[in-house]
Amino acid sequence: MRSGQVRSSHVTLTLFLAVAVLSAAPGGGANRSSLQTGPASTAETFTSPPVLQNTSAKPGVVELDLTAAPSRVEMVPGKPATAWAYNGTVPGPTIELHEGDTVTIHFHNKLAQTTTVHWHGLHIPAGADGSPLNPVLPGGSQDYTFKIPAGTAGTYWYHPHPDMTTTEQVAKGLYGALVVRPAQVADDPLAGIRDRLLILSDNRFKADGSVDFPEHMSPDSHVDAENGREGDVLLVNGRTMPAISIRPGELQRLRIINASAARIYRLAIAGQKLVHVGSDGGLFAAPREENELLVANSERVEILVRGGAPGTRVVLQSLPYDRYDPHTRPADWNQPRDLLELRTSTDAPVAPMTVPAALRAIQAIDTKLVAARRTIVFSQGLINGKAMDMKRVDVTSRLNTTEIWQVENVVAMDHPFHLHGFRFQVIDRDGVPEPYVSWKDSVNVPKHGKVRVAIRFEDFPGKWMFHCHILDHEDMGMMGILLVR
Ligand code: C2O
Ligand code: CU
Ligand code: CU
Repeated sequence: MRSGQVRSSHVTLTLFLAVAVLSAAPGGGANRSSLQTGPASTAETFTSPPVLQNTSAKPGVVELDLTAAPSRVEMVPGKPATAWAYNGTVPGPTIELHEGDTVTIHFHNKLAQTTTVHWHGLHIPAGADGSPLNPVLPGGSQDYTFKIPAGTAGTYWYHPHPDMTTTEQVAKGLYGALVVRPAQVADDPLAGIRDRLLILSDNRFKADGSVDFPEHMSPDSHVDAENGREGDVLLVNGRTMPAISIRPGELQRLRIINASAARIYRLAIAGQKLVHVGSDGGLFAAPREENELLVANSERVEILVRGGAPGTRVVLQSLPYDRYDPHTRPADWNQPRDLLELRTSTDAPVAPMTVPAALRAIQAIDTKLVAARRTIVFSQGLINGKAMDMKRVDVTSRLNTTEIWQVENVVAMDHPFHLHGFRFQVIDRDGVPEPYVSWKDSVNVPKHGKVRVAIRFEDFPGKWMFHCHILDHEDMGMMGILLVR
């Protein structure tokens, strides 16, 4: 499975797709003559959220305005309904930043509820983290100010993080992507490869197009509380099954964010390997070929895909994955789900683009000197036997030390672990050493599984959350507080 990935200084991964070529949609073949020339010749239905405009003209300074408010949005095409949206769109606008930027985000809460904005995965001061400790009241505003550290180029996201109501706020439309790029374009080893952002989410809707969020204490709410909220509608950037156009031989980079409250995606494209180039905290040292990738909620993956033979199509799917407790496992859990179509255009093939053999240097965290080894036990809704208490500190760590945390799941469903503020490296999973080094801020802990991670507390003292990233579990209190000092 973890097959050798680098054969020479430049690998040409030949992914021409003889298998899994779908029968073209009715009329697809017949229309060929009208699909002859130019990049627009193969219909692309894929859309990306708008990019949030920087209002500062100063180099290296980014100033953004972000407002959460009830808005009319077509979450279901043709059925505008009231959603809760950042700047009126679902997903919210994409925040584009560069390493070294000084960023101020002027946030306004026009919801009738308390909220926060959490910048998931960013390494920034505790006061700017948007944790439940810093609520923004209805009608209130908050400036989030931080600097983007060097070496953190990658794919992140933002979402509300109020105490106990995060699931509802995300379900009603509050989530968006945040991309950090290297300071210079030339520092991106994948510069020149077309870059796409895919925010995966799922939802349930009423007939009028509004979000179907269960009443408190209803039977649905009990299933959600156990499983985490899932929806029957799977969305990529807020749309069902969009199509991306790619030229024969062309490589494209897909930055994929799992913004679902609870659904875990097992990504695969039948008949081809995925070229896995990055995870939560950016690129790996080298690309890896994988048959499939498990993406737990809040995790990110970056992959490269290649156009096949002209006029062919393949589908990015989520294969069945049993993360559930047997009592509340949905009946259709074992069905593969289609996410996105990749349409190879009928344009003349481009010379097959090469995947760089080396992406960037990543140092493994040195674990020779470890200040503390901790065990974090996940049971259903609890961490180390306790529910979250905003006034309690659960773990105290020293600045400038390295720790090893073993996260143990003692129950029969998966719980993804997430730590705020500090990226970590996975050491092993159930004793199996992680075969490569990568920066993570979330990691799935499968039923009855154990994952060990190394964390370095270099800077940013303060209080930080760690929790299960199934949002319903987080709301129920499957969260603890780390004090770094
Ligand atoms: Cu995605 Cu505590 O966060
Ligand atoms: Cu976070
Ligand atoms: Cu959980």
